[in-house]
Amino acid sequence: MYRTHNCGELCNKYLNQDVTLSGWIHQIRNFGSIFFVDIRDFFGITQLIISKKILHTDFFLRKEYLIQVKGKVLKRLSRNYNLYTGEIEILVSKIDILNKSLLPPFSIEDNTDGKEIDRMRYRYLDIRRNPIKNNLIIRHNLMLEVRNFLSQKGFLEIETPILVNYTPEGSRSFLVPSRIHMGKFYALHQSPQIFKQLLMIGGIDKYFQIVKCFRDEDSRSDRQIEFTQIDCEMSFVKVHDVLVFFESFIKHIFKTIKNYEWKKKIPIISYCDAIKMYGSNNPDIRFGMKFVKLNHIVKENNINFLKSKKLVIGIKIKNIDDIDNNLINFLLKKINKKNNFFWIKCLIENQILSSNNVQINQNFSKFLIKYFKANPGDLLFVSYGEKKDSRKLLSEIRIEIIKKLSLKNKNNYEPLWIIDIPLFKWEKKEKRFKSVHHPFTKPKDEDLHFLSINPKKVRSQSYDLVINGMEIGSGSIRIHNKKIQNLIFQHLGFSLKEIKSNFGFFTHAFEYGAPPHGGIAFGLDRLISILLGGENIKNFIAFPKNNEGEDVMTNSPTFFNNNIYN
Ligand code: AMO
Repeated sequence: MYRTHNCGELCNKYLNQDVTLSGWIHQIRNFGSIFFVDIRDFFGITQLIISKKILHTDFFLRKEYLIQVKGKVLKRLSRNYNLYTGEIEILVSKIDILNKSLLPPFSIEDNTDGKEIDRMRYRYLDIRRNPIKNNLIIRHNLMLEVRNFLSQKGFLEIETPILVNYTPEGSRSFLVPSRIHMGKFYALHQSPQIFKQLLMIGGIDKYFQIVKCFRDEDSRSDRQIEFTQIDCEMSFVKVHDVLVFFESFIKHIFKTIKNYEWKKKIPIISYCDAIKMYGSNNPDIRFGMKFVKLNHIVKENNINFLKSKKLVIGIKIKNIDDIDNNLINFLLKKINKKNNFFWIKCLIENQILSSNNVQINQNFSKFLIKYFKANPGDLLFVSYGEKKDSRKLLSEIRIEIIKKLSLKNKNNYEPLWIIDIPLFKWEKKEKRFKSVHHPFTKPKDEDLHFLSINPKKVRSQSYDLVINGMEIGSGSIRIHNKKIQNLIFQHLGFSLKEIKSNFGFFTHAFEYGAPPHGGIAFGLDRLISILLGGENIKNFIAFPKNNEGEDVMTNSPTFFNNNIYN
């Protein structure tokens, strides 16, 4: 028997019992004739007292050696309140080394000195650390909760193929050569989109799947080339039905996993309003800072250099002294170099300080301070120019400030639904329309007539769930009519022949009484990351890829070696 108990289990209840433990050496303190040794396993840490007398002369203890000890549970003289096992220690009578260890390249501690590259290369050692281990435990709990909740609500978990034919979903697909069909390739699915729709046509009422998806795109803190979705689809639903159901789903997840309760209904705003109010389609609304349109004020105050500008907007940042001064200085410096921007800082006793990139009339500055109800310590940013540019610039500032503020506000969540997202975006380089979501998204009925006149104006029956500025989920009501689906494909630049050969099987299925249906997919890695404070999603994946899409531990991707492959 390797162990009678684990290293996180023993307490006063077990005093004087003989126990056997196995674990890795976490700490060694040498007190001359005795060693105090902490051993660690998945469950926790237990302190051992090892007399030098029981060690062979050539016996050598080192961190991360895997040992087995037999001994008696004793009460500790001074209790360690940080550990569950902190009231006891084990007086060791026998010790065996189960396996030696090389010196780890970084310390296996909560706050490690390990560099990112080493932690990725020795991921199995990183997983021994509590922060990563705990993230994996929470990931497991979340998946369990998702499965229970959706199953209880009548969703069926069904696996769909991963080796598929290429479908356009916005990213590049990974290709896999077929051995039997020389020269032919499978694509790794980017999501189960088409198959979940076929399940609805197959009469499955509600489907879900916790599923790995693959996209050949650049990795970022919220993006991996291999990631996991909680993919869902329902028959006979409209936008409202989906939003109501998945609002209850997400609230349930936050309650059970984080013990966090949202009393309020999740606000719903249109894509168009999100852009106008925050300059972003996934805004972080925790700190307010809505854009305030100032064109009419500019006119009233006869501010010549602004009068001709398409859009003049501003935001107020409250009490900037609460924010890191370095950041503010950095932003101000950055902005001072730009022409279509100025800032005004409200000081005590009616004094103001403003940027020196443009000459701002004092009276106008004071007017703005009044208009924004700014107090000493507050900072106003104003941008102007073409609509898109002024929103972009102000949004960049907003995001930088929020990054800083959110460090202090990790456990506050502000979700929102973004709806009425445009169906198409114009790709300048390729000179063609692309789907904002994917080609299977249903246009809004009232916008269908724009398809032939001005496709850019068509809004879709789609929705994104955004929490603290991160897109956590995205979905839509789907087209279930062959004619409309073909029309959309044509707008995306597919010829009739291509539509038939690539999607013929799919649109043909619509002709067998396809039910109206819709769904959503949540990014599981992103959901956990946001639940636990918004860190890089890598920290919640057991074996993630780095930002270049490499696994530096197994050294993938690698050059193809025919000898090994055969
Ligand atoms: P979409 O492509 O928006 O929609 O993906 C759904 C959600 O998956 C997450 N996500 C990612 N997470 C980590 N790394 C990535 N590279 C990545 N890409 C996406 C996001 C996103 O909101 N089939 C549709 C869903 C549907 O219409 O039902 C789809 O895949 O959180």
